[in-house]
Amino acid sequence: MIKLETKNAFLNENFADYQDSVTHCHELLMTKKGKGNDYTGWVEWPFDYDKEEFARILDAAERIRNNCDVFLVCGIGGSYLGARAVIEMVNGLYAQKKPEIIFIGNTFSSTYIAQVLDYIKNKEVCLNVISKSGTTTETALAFRLFKQALEAKYGVEEAAKRIFATTDRNRGTLKSLADKAGYEEFAIPDDIGGRFSVITAVGLLPIAVAGIDINALLEGCRKAYKDLDTADLDKNPAYRYAVARRMLQNQGKNAEMLVSYETQMSMVAEWWKQLFGESEGKNGKGILPCSVNFSTDLHSMGQFIQDGNKVLFETLIKVEKPTLDLTFPADEENLDGMNYLAGKSVDWVNKMACQGTLEAHVETGHVPNIEITIPDMSVESFGYMAYFFFRAIAMTTYLIDENPFDQPGVEVYKKNMFRLLGKN
Ligand code: PA5
Repeated sequence: MIKLETKNAFLNENFADYQDSVTHCHELLMTKKGKGNDYTGWVEWPFDYDKEEFARILDAAERIRNNCDVFLVCGIGGSYLGARAVIEMVNGLYAQKKPEIIFIGNTFSSTYIAQVLDYIKNKEVCLNVISKSGTTTETALAFRLFKQALEAKYGVEEAAKRIFATTDRNRGTLKSLADKAGYEEFAIPDDIGGRFSVITAVGLLPIAVAGIDINALLEGCRKAYKDLDTADLDKNPAYRYAVARRMLQNQGKNAEMLVSYETQMSMVAEWWKQLFGESEGKNGKGILPCSVNFSTDLHSMGQFIQDGNKVLFETLIKVEKPTLDLTFPADEENLDGMNYLAGKSVDWVNKMACQGTLEAHVETGHVPNIEITIPDMSVESFGYMAYFFFRAIAMTTYLIDENPFDQPGVEVYKKNMFRLLGKN
C-alpha cells in the first residue's frame, strides 16, 4: 500500500551494511527490551484494542452527531494533532458535514478562545476534553472556560451529558474531575504515548464524530503491521526509510522537509512533525522535521529548497488518486491564455507540477529526495501510513541509540511558565 523510492536520494552507503543493526533494533522493539519499552503498546494495539470501548466510541459518536452543530475537541499535541490530520485529510477542509468540528485547548491565544466562545453562543455544542496527564495547562484553561459556557447554557446536568473525557484510566486531575461530574469517559492506555495515540480513543472518538470509519483506520494499521512485520531491509519499506534518513544525516543533511501536493494534508505534516521531532530530537541528535505544501509553498520556500543552504532533504508524499478531480474547461476568447490546459484534469496539472519540481530539486538543486506513495486520502490509507511512520520513527531513533517514546525536553518551558504564572 506504500511504495518507497530512494533512487533520487543520493545515498552513498549500502542498506546491507545496516541490516545487523536493524535486526537488533527490530528485536528490541518487538520483545519490548529497548529504550522506552513501557510505551510500545501501539505496536500490537490495532489487534489488541479494547473492543468494548470501541463499541462505546461508536455509540457516543452517534449521539454526539445527533445532538450538536459544533463538536469541540479540547486537547494539544498528541491529544489533537492525529484526529485533526485524519479529519482534514479524509473529509477535506470545507466538509459540509454536521457537526462542525473545532479544535480548542491547543493555545493560550485569548483572541482565538474568545472568538470560538462567541462563535458557539447560539449553537448546539458537545465537547470532548482529551488529556492523558490531565494537567496540561492550555487544555485545562480552555476546558474550564468552555465547561462553564456549556453549564451556563444547558445547566450542569445537561452539560455533563454533552461533555466526554478522554484521559488516563486510573489517575490524574481530569480523571477525578470527570468521575465527579459524571462525564462519559474513554481511556488513554498507559503504554501508548500522546503522539502514537491517534489509533486510541484520543483520535477515534473525534474521527468517528466526523463520520469517518474508524474500523477502516485500524484495518489500515493491521495491513501495515502484516506488511512490515520483518526486519529484512529488502522487504520492509518503513525500516528502509528509517535507514535512508540515517544515511542522509551522515551526509550532512540535518533537516527533512516533508512535501505534499494536497492542501488537505497540511495537518498530516503537523502530526508527522510532532511524531518525528519529539521522538528523535534528543541529546543534541536528530533530524529537524519541517514541512511544505506544494505548489503553494513553491512560491515562498521554493527558492531556498532549490538554491539555498544544502542542509535538507525532501520526503515527498505522493497521492496516486485524488479524492475529487475536475476537467479544466476551454474558453472561446482565451484571454487568460490558459486554453493549452483545456480538457486536462486538474490533478494531472498537479502531478506535472510535482514531476517538474522533483526534477528541478534533484537534478539542478541536488536536493536528495525520498518518495513515499500512498494510493489515496482514505482513512484506511491514513491508518496504513500512520503505522508505517510509527515503525519508521521507532527504528530510526533506536539506530541513534535514543528513546523514541519520551519527551523530557518539553518540560523545560513549562517550569519557567509555571514560575511566571505563580503556580505552586
Ligand atoms: O506526545 C506527547 O506526549 C505530547 O505532545 C502530549 O500529547 C501533549 O503534551 C498533551 O499531553 P496531555 O495529553 O497529557 O494533555
